[in-house]
Amino acid sequence: MCGIVGYIGRNDAKEILLKGLEKLEYRGYDSAGIAVQNNEGIHVFKEKGRIADLRSVVDDNVLGNTGIGHTRWATHGVPSKVNAHPHQSTTERLTLVHNGVIENYSILKREYLEGVQLKSETDTEVIVQLLEKFVNEGNSVEDAFRQTLTLLKGSYAIALLDKENDETIFVAKNKSPLLVGLGEEFNVVASDAMAMLQVTDQFVELMDKEMVIVTKEKVTIKTLEGTVVERDPYTAELDASDIEKGTYPHYMLKEIDEQPAVMRKIVQSYRNDDGSLSVDEDIIGAMNEADRIYIIAAGTSYHAGLVGKQFIEKMAKIPVEVHVASEFSYNMPILSEKPLFIFISQSGETADSRAVLVQIKEFGYKALTVTNVPGSTLSREADYTLLLHAGPEIAVASTKAYTAQLAVLAILASVTAASKGIEIDFDLTQELGIVANAMDVLCDAKEEFEEIARNFLSTTRNCFFIGRALDYYVGLEGSLKLKEISYIQAEGFAGGELKHGTIALIEEGTPIIAISTQEHVNLSIRGNVKEVVARGANPCIISMKGLNEEEDSFVLPEVHELLTPLVSVVPLQLISYYAALHRDCDVDKPRNLAKSVTVE
Ligand code: AGP
Repeated sequence: MCGIVGYIGRNDAKEILLKGLEKLEYRGYDSAGIAVQNNEGIHVFKEKGRIADLRSVVDDNVLGNTGIGHTRWATHGVPSKVNAHPHQSTTERLTLVHNGVIENYSILKREYLEGVQLKSETDTEVIVQLLEKFVNEGNSVEDAFRQTLTLLKGSYAIALLDKENDETIFVAKNKSPLLVGLGEEFNVVASDAMAMLQVTDQFVELMDKEMVIVTKEKVTIKTLEGTVVERDPYTAELDASDIEKGTYPHYMLKEIDEQPAVMRKIVQSYRNDDGSLSVDEDIIGAMNEADRIYIIAAGTSYHAGLVGKQFIEKMAKIPVEVHVASEFSYNMPILSEKPLFIFISQSGETADSRAVLVQIKEFGYKALTVTNVPGSTLSREADYTLLLHAGPEIAVASTKAYTAQLAVLAILASVTAASKGIEIDFDLTQELGIVANAMDVLCDAKEEFEEIARNFLSTTRNCFFIGRALDYYVGLEGSLKLKEISYIQAEGFAGGELKHGTIALIEEGTPIIAISTQEHVNLSIRGNVKEVVARGANPCIISMKGLNEEEDSFVLPEVHELLTPLVSVVPLQLISYYAALHRDCDVDKPRNLAKSVTVE
């Protein structure tokens, strides 16, 4: 996905746009650009690479009070200067930035743009050339914009400048996130409120198929049919300090360290005055009406769903299926009579997950979104939302959001169980407090995890994470962390499954990180470790206190057996962090990735 900013007001736009893009770099960072408009025209600066690279090509002498900017995660066309946004029409009258994917761009190019020389490989350039075609046919820019938008199929967030009108930014949105921010004699546009907290905390949500006329005095929202829509602004909850690294070298390390506090914040947020945990009764009602629950998610959130299934089935006794979002749409299983869908998404913007939500809403089913971002697409379009209260997660590799998802799912399961009169054998509030304390202990043991990373991962090209039951799911998450930030080919595997083929990959010195926190499979997973050690593997066993043995590399502070994933994942997060550091990888912005993937 990409990041978009826009500014129109009384100040020079350049620095506001560049600072905004720096806050959005987590959304995509393979190229970037800004366009600054003044009475001489529109000045475009763009560059392959990071915002820092863009800054080096921006002409400080160019001043303008209107501007747009973009940081890109490439979908159509390689990361390059020519494919970087903003894109201009042939006459350079029109300039725009876009986040999303125009699915029918080739058809539009063929049907409407014959003879038009496109400069880039992007779908975005087709939009701006279409616009120019309709303007050249005598339409106003607003009408040409509306005409173009009705032809587009797919997702878009667009900010557009017209060389002949330096007092307006034209904006449109469909499926990709976009907000308008309100100020005194200025207004702004952003993919995420974080980008413009520098100038305002008042934002207006935009809905799909809306277009907006933004001047420095006024914001006019219209439907594509031209009907004006009134919508009140909301105050962004974010605090500027939340999105700074402070004294940390990387956001990822800061966010790992924030996990104990997030646990305590979640318990506080979901607690009644009488101290009991509570969840909105409509959500509990929906849980109780369901005869089966379908958890839909991607990446780390999918791994959280696998653990969430265990919580809900073991506490609330409701059958649960967990599905990868990108598969579910095209490979839907036979659904139960009364399904409830739970979408887990840190960003609330993942296109794969949103595509499923659109589909099941068409079927008339209910949906709950578990997310870290209030007002996100998946939150707005679901029937219910449970917030993670984890604070902004900037690092591309998700850490505190994962453990927050587990905690919130455990609370959902526990409160549902209580509503059904099902007794669970522990006090979740108390146990989550013990989890938070255990996380504190782990965050204080960084040197040990750096040592483990150095001993096991400094030169290897691959690594296996093995576990059984809950530990298997945590192993999947650990392998994703390691591969996405250190680029080591890591694989999470069910301990008992390795011998059915994959054990052929074990060579002298192959690192095997084994997790053992579940008593009923402790001896089995240790047997699996022996199988791979017998073939040359280099074992790193991370075990729970009470199950530990002499040869183990690290012993975890004891927590309730059902909640061990909230704790056993922390060493894997830190080991991955140090492995990436030792390899000089960009921990917060790994290659090829973006924080939230808003394209399918
Ligand atoms: C996690 O470390 C990855 N960045 C990625 O797998 C992420 O979990 C996935 O894209 C889902 O994102 P979401 O939780 O915002 O939907």
